[in-house]
Amino acid sequence: MEPITLLTNKRILLGVTGSIAAYKAVDLASKLTQAGALVDVILTESAERFVTALTFQAVTGRPVYTDLWATDSSGGLPTHIAHVGLGEGADLLAVIPATANTLAKLTHGLADDLLSVTALAARCPLLIAPAMDGGMYQHPATYYNVQLLAARGAYLVEPEEGRFASGLVGKGRLPETPALMGHIRRALGKTGALAGQRLVITAGGTREAIDPVRFITNRSSGRQGFALAQAALDAGATVTLITTTKDVPAPIGAEVVLVSNAESMLKAVLKESAQADALIMAAAVADFRPAVTAAQKIKKTDDPSEVPTIQLTRTADILMEVKVQRAQTGFPKVAVGFAAESEHLLTNARAKLERKGLDLLVANDISAPDAGFEVDTNRVVILSQQAEPEAVALASKTLIAERIVARVAALLA
Ligand code: CTP
Repeated sequence: MEPITLLTNKRILLGVTGSIAAYKAVDLASKLTQAGALVDVILTESAERFVTALTFQAVTGRPVYTDLWATDSSGGLPTHIAHVGLGEGADLLAVIPATANTLAKLTHGLADDLLSVTALAARCPLLIAPAMDGGMYQHPATYYNVQLLAARGAYLVEPEEGRFASGLVGKGRLPETPALMGHIRRALGKTGALAGQRLVITAGGTREAIDPVRFITNRSSGRQGFALAQAALDAGATVTLITTTKDVPAPIGAEVVLVSNAESMLKAVLKESAQADALIMAAAVADFRPAVTAAQKIKKTDDPSEVPTIQLTRTADILMEVKVQRAQTGFPKVAVGFAAESEHLLTNARAKLERKGLDLLVANDISAPDAGFEVDTNRVVILSQQAEPEAVALASKTLIAERIVARVAALLA
């Protein structure tokens, strides 16, 4: 797991309570630590029946807190001030899993164990991920507690539907680690540079149908677009991801619009960007499509010399249509394009920036084996109307995305 910029050196107070799902919190604590976060775990007494403090200590490399009354802090904060110290320094208090009992305590301000006392002392955002069996989550007592906490600003991770350890089926399962990580990022990103801004991001290569089973596409994997969506979410934006691919799970919090060809992408982009602060066109949109799509599968005949000819026609240039929309409505406020070039990178990119009326253009040299299509790394130059071109050295698509998002945030500031 590579470090996550948003999580690096963030102090996350992870409150683990007595649900069978407590074992999932071990994996979460481990992944958060690997991502660069400093994870301080508080276990309730009932959580300790499911998992041990030692387990969390091993995966976080930090002292684990359990007892409000303990006098031996085993290297951690002296316990008489632990609840204040832990709460004060934290960037987020995440109660995962949160039992009905702990939710009730948090809602009504009860303070009879280290976690509930710390929650009262903490001034950081609170995230709760309820997990419980049977109808407990649906019970009005729990339901209203959760509503009250959410109304007070707590970030609620909805439990999933599924099978409980008891064999019953219902809503109350704790989501898996990747989803929990996504929610934690969302909660931490709320105050980022793009808070309150709406971004539309496109990803993937379009598919232009030849017949019901065949299509013309390109080598775009969608990875750079998905990384951009995650980076924008981390910066606090509301994100709509218009994508041709669902092979990669979409980042938690992104609204996903699935499209197939250039035409459906054009429609989605114009609709979604009509009120957007920024549009980032990372998708590889086909420039040509078959002039006609055969209604039935094209069959071969007995004559081997007989082959079909596919007549191509131009697709609409989405960014050119966006340029028209911007001239009429002013939206999206900022438009960012990509340029995949195999020669004369800067000259071609500069011309594209001007022609498409863009604020930023991210150019990459697709002739390099370690940048561009189907790889996890990229090397780009960011061109803009005012500033000098910014060369971003070979880096993960994640880091490239963060750089692009920072440039967008600067333009919107
Ligand atoms: N793009 C678009 N609509 C198209 C083709 C491309 O909006 N029909 C967008 C891409 O999403 C990208 C930018 O335009 O952000 C540049 O794409 P690229 O393929 O490099 O450039 P083209 O405009 O297609 O020019 P050329 O193929 O001649 O290099």
